[in-house]
Amino acid sequence: MKTRVLTVDPEHPAPDALAEAARILRAGGLVAFPTETVYGLGANALDADALARIYEAKQRPANDPIIAHIARVEQLDQLARDIPPAARALADAFWPGPMTLILHRRPDCPIARLTSAGLDRIALRVPAHEGARQLLQHFAGPVAAPSANPSGRISPSTAKHVLDGLDGRLDLVLDGGSCESGLESTIIDCTGEIARLLRPGGITREAVAAALATANCNPQIDIAEPLADHENPVAPGQLTSHYAPKAAVRLMAITSTADEELIGFGAVSGAGELALNLSPSADLVEAAANLFSILHAVDAADIAKIAIAPIPDTGLGEAINDRLRRAAAPR
Ligand code: TXA
Ligand code: MG
Repeated sequence: MKTRVLTVDPEHPAPDALAEAARILRAGGLVAFPTETVYGLGANALDADALARIYEAKQRPANDPIIAHIARVEQLDQLARDIPPAARALADAFWPGPMTLILHRRPDCPIARLTSAGLDRIALRVPAHEGARQLLQHFAGPVAAPSANPSGRISPSTAKHVLDGLDGRLDLVLDGGSCESGLESTIIDCTGEIARLLRPGGITREAVAAALATANCNPQIDIAEPLADHENPVAPGQLTSHYAPKAAVRLMAITSTADEELIGFGAVSGAGELALNLSPSADLVEAAANLFSILHAVDAADIAKIAIAPIPDTGLGEAINDRLRRAAAPR
């Protein structure tokens, strides 16, 4: 398969590029597109064959479900049932944005079962990225999209990252430049009594708790334990080894050994060949935005060992440290 690339203005994508992307989605093809978090590998969420192509292109385990992206908050009620007040509060507070809600699917929900890997719960997100929103509007239906990388590898924050991993395995890449936040969405399971954090992400746990409290919902948030392998399809996002660069990863490093490339943060500056630093000013937003680009740069430079400076575990640091722990986990 030949993968085409169309360059688009992320704020004002050309209507003919959107029309072409929507046409490919309708025909069951795969289109990678930028969101405010990372690039997604999109397919028509109602089309099981198209979904199967995503699993094949990414070599994704069949029990790992996929987020359905929708254009408008109002579509929630057509797809999910028994939506608790906490889920409405989070949708109100954070949609459009980097927030994914896990909900019970309605019996008549048209989303293909393969999207949710056969589970009776669906993952929904309204992205904030203008280009992504316009694509969803043009297509006029839910778009299933995991991050556009081979399964288990680093998420893509540029079109080049997408092509590095998946060239020839998808029909089209809409190249809208770098993703703004660079961390995937926060995933909250709203199917139980208490909200459960399945994946820390672009919206901090503190912000989630505050939104729940403001809406008079229980602000308590349970944490899902990471799983060691693909055996349990209940919380499949929680695999310990994920986001893996090719290099071996050592965390909490203040200095590096002779054969390591040090990735700095704040005052701990990257002393290696590439002089990498997630954020010289110790800004967690900047570090989040740089994280996947720096890991991709390390991959591209064929570096065998990296050491990464400590990152505070507050705010966005929780999601950054989650990704770093997975990058460092035994494979
Ligand atoms: O920011 C994001 O969320 C990006 C952009 C493209 O939207 N998407 C993304 O998708 O990161 P993906 O597939 O790489 O990660 C989604 C995670 C997976 O770990 C998956 O297991 C989990 O969400 N997930 C999806 N549906 C689920 C469900 N029904 N129940 C539990 N976990 C689910
Ligand atoms: Mg992913």
